[in-house]
Amino acid sequence: MDSSRTFPKGFLWGSATSAHQVEGNTHNDWSEWEIESSKFKVQSEKLNFISGNACDHYNRFKEDFDIAKSLGHNVHRFSLEWSRIEPEEGKFDREAIEHYRQVLTALRERGLEPFVTIWHWTNPIWIRDIGGWENKKTIEYFMRFVERVSQEYKDLVKFWMPLNEPETYIGLSFVAGRFPPQKKSFMSANRVFKNLMQAHRQAYTAIKAVSPHAQVGASHYALYIDAQGNHWQNRVLAEFLHHIRNKRFWNALQGYRDFFGLQYYHHNRVAFTLRGKPHVRLDVRFPSAQETTDNGWEIYPQGIYHLLKEISSYKEPIYITENGIADATDTKREKFITDHLVQVHHAIQEGADVRGYFYWSLLDNFEWDNGFQARFGLVEVDFKTQERKIRPSAYAYKNIIEQNSL
Ligand code: GCO
Repeated sequence: MDSSRTFPKGFLWGSATSAHQVEGNTHNDWSEWEIESSKFKVQSEKLNFISGNACDHYNRFKEDFDIAKSLGHNVHRFSLEWSRIEPEEGKFDREAIEHYRQVLTALRERGLEPFVTIWHWTNPIWIRDIGGWENKKTIEYFMRFVERVSQEYKDLVKFWMPLNEPETYIGLSFVAGRFPPQKKSFMSANRVFKNLMQAHRQAYTAIKAVSPHAQVGASHYALYIDAQGNHWQNRVLAEFLHHIRNKRFWNALQGYRDFFGLQYYHHNRVAFTLRGKPHVRLDVRFPSAQETTDNGWEIYPQGIYHLLKEISSYKEPIYITENGIADATDTKREKFITDHLVQVHHAIQEGADVRGYFYWSLLDNFEWDNGFQARFGLVEVDFKTQERKIRPSAYAYKNIIEQNSL
């Protein structure tokens, strides 16, 4: 084994999931939107876009954590489903609270350190009905939820992540108009930005008040943005977008972060294109893209190195809280993981304080508005029978974990 590619002692290795994508039978703003937006799809297509039973992880979490353990993982990231814990305003559901206590206990029993995301994009219906994150009042309600769960689970959780990727949520729900509530409004986007940043800062303070030794992190889906060609206009545009989409968020939470949760997937190239009038194109599947994933994302491991170098300037510990590939045939996953880890290792050697890596995802799951097609799992799931099958790449990852080295 080449000892020059060894990871720091105590490095955390595992995978990540989120409640709505794996649990099954959630009832929230997303599940209602799925039904609404599937109305126009043909019958055979519909099922693919309705989360329904998903992976039935709500009932099978122990079996799934057994698999994670058997694959050598020592950490696991998952999210709490707000709509289960507080299905009606102010009414907390004892059973749901107890359920997540069991989830956390099951992780601990298997030697998996939990990283808990408090909000991974889905909202209770009653939050949707007051205008969701556009309404400042949602911060207050969210804080009551945060205070409740941080009290309930303080004996079991050290690592908290109040929000998953606020930037993706804002971009897809309020700029691109793809995710519910499918609004395209810069005013709304800006309002939601302010409210989510405020929510994170308050959550940070509240969790630390309950558990002074807790580690509270902020996740960020960092886009690695390059200019297409070397035109100066495109370079200026890339720099501008890097600021809007990345740095603005990093800076907004400075001082309210014990660690940085970097989530990285693909290469984005940006260009002005002429379609009648100047038009900005930010794309992950430029025609020149070399190698892509099943969902057309350009694979670019060097991007994670550059982002880690830049994020290092904040002088905070970093965890790669998501990195993964949609690859149904499992022909690219092993290489994807290895190539990204080579870059991560390179950044560590140059001083980046990276302390863990979470592959996205443990299981094939419900990929939001792309439905069940995108297969991100280390473990393949047959959504009809709920049968799990460990993919070969999961064993390759296990091997890296066991060696703590590439
Ligand atoms: C994310 C999303 C995940 C996605 C993954 C793949 O945090 O980006 O949390 O839910 O499934 O990114 O697109």
